[in-house]
Amino acid sequence: MRLDVITIFPEYLAPLRLSLVGRAADRGLLDIRVHDLRAWTHDRHHTVDDTPYGGGPGMVMKPEPWGEALDEILADTPVDTPIDPDADDGGGGARGPVLVVPTPSGRPFSQEVAAELADRSHLIFTPARYEGIDRRVVEEYAERAEVRELSIGDYVLAGGEAPVLVMVEAVVRLLPGVLGNAESHRDDSFAAGSMAHLLEGPVYTKPPVWRGREVPQVLLGGHHGHIARWRRDHALRRTAEHRPDLLRAAPPESWDPGDRRFLAELGWESGPDGRFGPRPGAVEE
Ligand code: ADE
Repeated sequence: MRLDVITIFPEYLAPLRLSLVGRAADRGLLDIRVHDLRAWTHDRHHTVDDTPYGGGPGMVMKPEPWGEALDEILADTPVDTPIDPDADDGGGGARGPVLVVPTPSGRPFSQEVAAELADRSHLIFTPARYEGIDRRVVEEYAERAEVRELSIGDYVLAGGEAPVLVMVEAVVRLLPGVLGNAESHRDDSFAAGSMAHLLEGPVYTKPPVWRGREVPQVLLGGHHGHIARWRRDHALRRTAEHRPDLLRAAPPESWDPGDRRFLAELGWESGPDGRFGPRPGAVEE
C-alpha cells in the first residue's frame, strides 16, 4: 500500500516510522511518503493560508499549493491504481487512489471505513490546519479520485495530523501480514463477525495473584467452553455499561441462549422487534 501525507508539519508524522506502522514500512508492506505542503508555494514567505471570503475568524488554506501538490502526487500514483473513480478492478470495487480529508465535519471514521481503506492500494491524506482548506480543492479532486471526508470523533483538534496517525494505524494493522497472528484482529471490538456488537472484556496474564488480586479461576482451568462463555458474559457486561447503544442496535440473531440468559441477569429484555433494551425500571448506568 502506498500512503502519501501532505502537511505543513511533516515532523508531526514522525510516529509513522515507529512500532507497527514503522515495521510494516521497513518490511516493504507500505510505502509512506510525507510531503511538506510549503514545497508547493512560490512566495518568499511560503504562504499557505489567507483570510476567509465572507469574513469570520481564522484563516483558510489557499487552494493553489494543495492543487500543485495533489497534481504531482496523483501523477505518480502506482500503476495498478488508475486515476478514475469509476474504474473497476474486475472484482466489483471501484479502484484508484483515495483522497482522505480529515475534518470534524466529515463522516465518522469507523472500523468498517478502516477495512474499506485497507482494501485500496493508494491513500492520500490532506490534514489541514486553520479553518480548513478552500472548498474548491475537494470539488476539483472528487472528479479525479474518490474523496473521503472523515472525522475521528465529535471534538475539534487543532489540525488533521493526529487524525491521520489514528486512521493510518487503524488501516495498516488490517493489512495482510502486518499483525503477527492472522487471527489477532478477528475478535477486535467493532470487527465484523461474532463479536461485532460487543466491546472486549478484561484480560489477564501472569502472575496468578498480584497484590492479593487473583486471576478469575475459570481462566486458569482448561475448559474452553467455560472460558468462552465467561469472556462473552464480560463482553456483554462491559458493553451494557459503556456502550448500551451497541447492544440496543444489535439484530436479534446476534444473541445465543447463553447471551439471552446473561442479558436478562443484567436487566435487559427483548422488545417487539426482538432487539434487547434495558427492562423498564431497570437502572441504566
Ligand atoms: N480535524 C480537527 N478535528 C478533527 C476531527 N475530530 N476529526 C478529523 N479531523 C479533524
